Amino acid sequence: MKIPNPPRTARGRLKVAGLRAPLPTRQDQPGRPEQTALPQASEAEQSEQIVISGCDYLGLSEDPVIRKAWLEASASGPLQTGASRATTGDHPWYRRAEATTADFLNEPAAVLTATGYLASLAVAQGLRDLATHVVIDESAHSCVQDGARLSGLPVIPFASGDARALRSVLRGLPPSARPLVATDGVYGIRGGMAPLTDYLQALPASGWLWVDDAHGLGSVGQTGRGSPEFFGLRDSRLIRSVTFSKALAVAGGAVIGEASLIEHIRTRAGAYLGSSAPPLAIAAAITAAVVRVHRLPGRVRRLQELARRFSTALPTRPEILNDPRTPVTAIHPRDADQAQRLTEALTQAGFVPPWIRYPGGPGGGFFRIALKATHSRSQVDRLSRAIRAGFNE
Ligand SMILES: Cc1ncc(COP(=O)(O)O)c(C=O)c1O
Repeated sequence: MKIPNPPRTARGRLKVAGLRAPLPTRQDQPGRPEQTALPQASEAEQSEQIVISGCDYLGLSEDPVIRKAWLEASASGPLQTGASRATTGDHPWYRRAEATTADFLNEPAAVLTATGYLASLAVAQGLRDLATHVVIDESAHSCVQDGARLSGLPVIPFASGDARALRSVLRGLPPSARPLVATDGVYGIRGGMAPLTDYLQALPASGWLWVDDAHGLGSVGQTGRGSPEFFGLRDSRLIRSVTFSKALAVAGGAVIGEASLIEHIRTRAGAYLGSSAPPLAIAAAITAAVVRVHRLPGRVRRLQELARRFSTALPTRPEILNDPRTPVTAIHPRDADQAQRLTEALTQAGFVPPWIRYPGGPGGGFFRIALKATHSRSQVDRLSRAIRAGFNE
C-alpha cells in the first residue's frame, strides 16, 4: 500500500502523504447523513495532538515516582557494573528488581535481562536441553520466533489462538516428547489474547507453556499482573517473559517462573550469561515501576474500562481487529484510499495517525491504536467517532 510511514508529527505526515489539500467539510458533502461529518477537536485539543500509538498503556512514562527512582539511582551509584552478572557484574539492585518482580507476579523466581527481546531468547536457550520441541503460536512476536529458531529444537507452528490446532500438533509428537509451547499472552500487533487456559490443558505433564506477556503485564488481569492473572492460572509448567519497556515505562526484561527453571536459565542461556544487565538506574526504576503498578490498581481498571468503552463504540468491520479485553486495536485498510480517509479523519479529530509497519503485521503497513489509562473518556469517544467517519459510517 502506498501510504508512507508517518513522520514525527501528523502535520509532517500530511505533507509526505500529499494530503495538504483542505479536508472536506460538511458543506462540501451535501446530502451526507449527519454522522459522516468528521468529529472536530476543539482548538486546545487540536494543538495537543493526542498520541494513540506505542505501548505506554498505563501512562507511566512521565511518572514522577519512577523518574525519581531512576534519577536518584544514577546520581548515587555507578551507572553500570561493566560486566555480565554471571562474572563480576552482579549488584543488589538487580537482585531487588528480580525479587520484586517475582513477588508481584506471585511466582517463585525471576531473572532480569537487558531487554524484553533478550528475555525471550533466554527462555529458549535456557530450556533447549530440557525440551524436545518448540510448538509455537504462529502469531507470536518475532523475539519468540527467533528464540524458538535459536534453540536448535524442531519448531512446529500452529494456527494462532487455536487450541484444537495445538492439541492436534501435540498428539502427533512421540510419547517421550517434552514440548515447549510458546505464545504471546496479549498479541501486541493486533490485540486480543491467546486462550492460555486451553493451551495449558492441552499440554502434557512433561511440557511447558511459555507466555511472552510483554503486552499483558500492566494491562490485563484485575490488578495488571498480566495474562496468567486474567485467566486465573498458577502452574509450575508456566514460564513467562516480560518487558518493562511497555506498560511499566522503563526498559529491560525478565523471565519469571519456577525457581529451578530460572536457575537453569541463569546457568545455560547465552542471552543472560553473555550480556550485561541493564544500567543500574534502570534496575532501580524497574523496582519502582513494579511497586507503582501494585499501588495503582485504579490505573489498570481505568485502562480496561476505556478499552471496553472503545470497543463498544467501534463499528464492526472486517478491517478492524479489536478485543475489548486489551488496549490494542489494529486497522488494516482495504486500500490506500481508505487509509487516506482514516488518516484525514484521525488528524482532523486531533490524533496523530498511528500508521506503522512491523514484523508480523501486513507488509504495506496498518494502523495500530494503543489506548492509555491517561486518555480521557471523551478522547476515546472522539477516537471511535473519527474512525467511523474515516469509514464513512
Ligand atoms: C511481544 C513482545 N515481546 C518482546 C518485545 C521486546 O521487548 P523490548 O523492547 O524490551 O526488547 C516486544 C517489543 O515490542 C514485544 O512486542
